[in-house]
Formats: sequence, structure tokens, C-alpha cells
Amino acid sequence: MPDDTVRLTDNRTGKSYDLPLFHGTLRAMDLRQIKTGPEDFGLMTYDPAFMNTASCMSSVTYIDGDQGILRYRGYPIDELAEKCTFLDVAWLLLNGELPNPDESAEWSNKISHHTMIHENLKKFMEGFRHDAHPMGMFVSTVAALSTFYPEARDVKSRQSRKLQIMRLIGKVPTIAAYAYRHSLGLPYVYPDNTLGYAENFLNMLWKMTEPKYNPDPVLARALDILFILHADHEQNCSANTMRAVGSSQADPYLSLAAAAAALAGPLHGGANEEVLRMIDEIGSVSNVPAFVDKVKAGQCKLMGFGHRVYKNYDPRAKIIKRTAEEVFKVTGANPKLEIAIELEQIALRDEYFIKRKLYPNVDFYSGIIYQAMGFQPDIFTVLFAIPRTVGWLAQWQELVDDSEQKIARPRQIYTGHDVRHVGELAATAAAPSIVRT
Ligand code: CMC
Repeated sequence: MPDDTVRLTDNRTGKSYDLPLFHGTLRAMDLRQIKTGPEDFGLMTYDPAFMNTASCMSSVTYIDGDQGILRYRGYPIDELAEKCTFLDVAWLLLNGELPNPDESAEWSNKISHHTMIHENLKKFMEGFRHDAHPMGMFVSTVAALSTFYPEARDVKSRQSRKLQIMRLIGKVPTIAAYAYRHSLGLPYVYPDNTLGYAENFLNMLWKMTEPKYNPDPVLARALDILFILHADHEQNCSANTMRAVGSSQADPYLSLAAAAAALAGPLHGGANEEVLRMIDEIGSVSNVPAFVDKVKAGQCKLMGFGHRVYKNYDPRAKIIKRTAEEVFKVTGANPKLEIAIELEQIALRDEYFIKRKLYPNVDFYSGIIYQAMGFQPDIFTVLFAIPRTVGWLAQWQELVDDSEQKIARPRQIYTGHDVRHVGELAATAAAPSIVRT
């Protein structure tokens, strides 16, 4: 017997099954043959929150959570952050290789020619209340893009996919900046195609009456690095949403809006905003020990700590900490940094966090840099969504090209009533039964 199988014995029937391993994994469908009789549906797996289920094969991003390793297409994240631009990394994630200089120039030129949004979309955004959360505006406006590009529904067309991908990467900073300006009551600023990706974003955010906005090169580079760090993170909650919605062959704008909605939650990309709120609530370094006690008593979470996959320091958090030093040289230090450092130091020494392998994640320090750069906390998750757009699209592209993928449709273990009839409501309720459908 080859050793790339596992033997399972069904104690109900006494039968044994040799199941082949596929990349060191069991194919869940192989379990279906394990039955007690012809009427039996066959064995399934139960895995709420996908704690131990691979939903796809992917060559985009590799994470080793125990060692704190993150690689895009094989390249370590720290090398990419040090040596590449965000748009080159976007090309890498989408195409599998870093671009050569000609490809790089052509790609950034193309993206910059997709930065404008239709005036009607601008009017659509004007309809939001003045205090609308930028993430709600972002999600809705990306979904609305679907109505401007009906040809995007042809998800089987490689050529159309390429065009929609460029449109999305080009337009998300414009939508994000408009959402931000809207919340401040400021007029929208049109893109400046002579600027780089991060530079133009800063222009659309902060240009006032000056004829040409000159972004600070240190801040623009810091933002570009933050974009690289946030570009992809394999099968997280929002990537999984992108794939699940994309599996129904919805167009990429709708799928991406759904993915962005998943990102908005405080346990995912919304955590960066929550970290800042938490630090404000703590107020001073002297209050940190009492706050940590509250976390340990289960009264609240230490936001920006913990990760489903990383059981070690998040490699992105390390790079963000370094980038923060560069930013603070320009902006002056954010006084909240002291509280964050104290929180981190206490938590990393404390048995509660050590035992559970809880380390700072990407969101712990990113908000502190964003705030030093002049952003309000409610825009932080939108700053995450801009670069993650590339990751979602790389995951979506892979899904569409994967012949093994079908519409995502998990099974359930039904725990409700057995059949009962209207009119018999007063009768004793039928006992709940367990049926798989
Ligand atoms: N503060 C206090 N305790 C925590 C925290 C935290 N931030 N995170 C996890 N724990 C505890 C949790 O209570 C549990 O304890 P016990 O075993 O006693 O029940 C244990 O650690 C395991 O946690 P879990 O909830 O089973 O872990 P998970 O993999 O389901 O959740 C997480 C991962 C990121 C949702 C969670 O760590 C969390 O809520 N962190 C705070 C929110 C946050 O920072 N999210 C950003 C994640 S990184 C950016 C991204 O990719 O989205």
C-alpha cells in the first residue's frame, strides 16, 4: 500500500477505507463513500469557520503562521516592501511574476488612465448623509460601478476581466478619497495622472486651493509600503467572500463590494479603527495595566492582537513599526504610540497572551501611522480596502480559471424540527432530528 493514503475504519460497520492524500490533505468528497447502508447519505465533515478546511488551491500568497512568514508569489513580504512599488506588487499578485521595467511603466500608465469615475457615480456619492461611514460609502459605490460596466458580467472573457481589474485598481482610490472628502464637506478632487498611485491618492485627499498638489515623498512612500503590506493575505474572511460571491459568476464589482463588506467588520479590517478607539478609551500609559486586566477577565478584546493563522509576530506589524519611525520624522510622533508600545510590552510578557499565542497583528500599529498622517479613524478600513482590492482580484481571477471550482455551497447539519403541519401547532412539537441535506 502506498504511504500517501490514510486508513479509516468505520466502527459502525467494521469496514476500513484507504483514502488517498492530496497535497497532504483528504478530499472531503472521498468520505461520502463511507456509509452504513445504501440509504445513508455518506460521511461529511463539520467545520464551522473553516478552522481546518482548504477551500481552494492557490499560488498567490503563502503564510506560515507559526514562523511568522508571509510571501507573495514566493517573494518575502519584507523584500517586496523594501524594493518594490505597490503597483509592481499588484502586477506580481495578478500575473505571478514581477514586471520588467517596460511592463511596469505600461501598467502604471494604464492604471492611471482608469482613475476617473463617471460623473453620475460622483452624484451617487453626493447622496450620502454628511456623516455616512466611509466604508459604507465605499462598499455601495463599488457595487454601483457594476451598473456602469454591464459587460463585466461576462466573467468568462479573459479580455473583459483584464479591463475590469484595471478599472477597479484605478478607481478604488478615487472612490475612497471622494468618500473621505464627502465626510469632511470638502469638494471632490479629480485624479492627477502625472502622480504615482499613492501620491495621486494623497492629492485627491488633501489638495485644497493650490493649482498642483506636491505630496510629501516620505509619506507617499510610507503609504505605498502600507499598501504592499495589505495587498493580499490568502483565504481570509474577505478573500473567501470574494471567492464565494464570484463562484456564482456575479460580476467583479459586486463580488468585490461583498468582499469589502466582509472586511468592514471589527474582527477583520475594521480592527484598525477599533485599535484607535481602544487607545483613546485607555487614555494614558498609567491606565494600561487596568485595561489589560479587563481583557484577561473577558470583558473586552485587545484589538489589533491575535490572528487565526499567525501564532507568532505578524511580519507585517514589524515592517509597519519601522515605517512608523519614518513617518513620525515628518509628522512628529503620535502620542498614542506610547500607549500602544506599553500595551504590547505588557501583553507580550503576560501568561494570558503567551498561552494563547496572541501577538500584535497588522492593525495594531497601522492606525497610529494613519492618524499621524492626518487620517480620521473612520477612513482606516478604506485605506485597507484600496490595496486589498488587488488581492481580492488575484483570488477571483484564480477562482474563475480553476476548473475544479463550482458555485460555493456548503452543507449543513439540520437541527430543526422534523416535518409538522399547520393546524397541528398545538400538538406536542416533534422532537428535533439530525438530518443532512
Ligand atoms: N484579545 C483578547 N483575547 C483574545 C484576542 C484578543 N484580541 N484574540 C483572541 N483571544 C482569545 C480568545 O478569547 C480565545 O480565548 P479562550 O481560548 O480562552 O476562549 C483565544 O484567544 C483564541 O481566540 P479565537 O477567538 O478562538 O481565535 P480566532 O482565530 O477565532 O480569532 C481574531 C482571530 C483575529 C478574530 C481574534 O484574535 C480577534 O478578535 N482579534 C481582535 C480583532 C483583530 O485585531 N482583528 C484583526 C485581525 S488581522 C487583520 C486581518 O487580516 O483582518
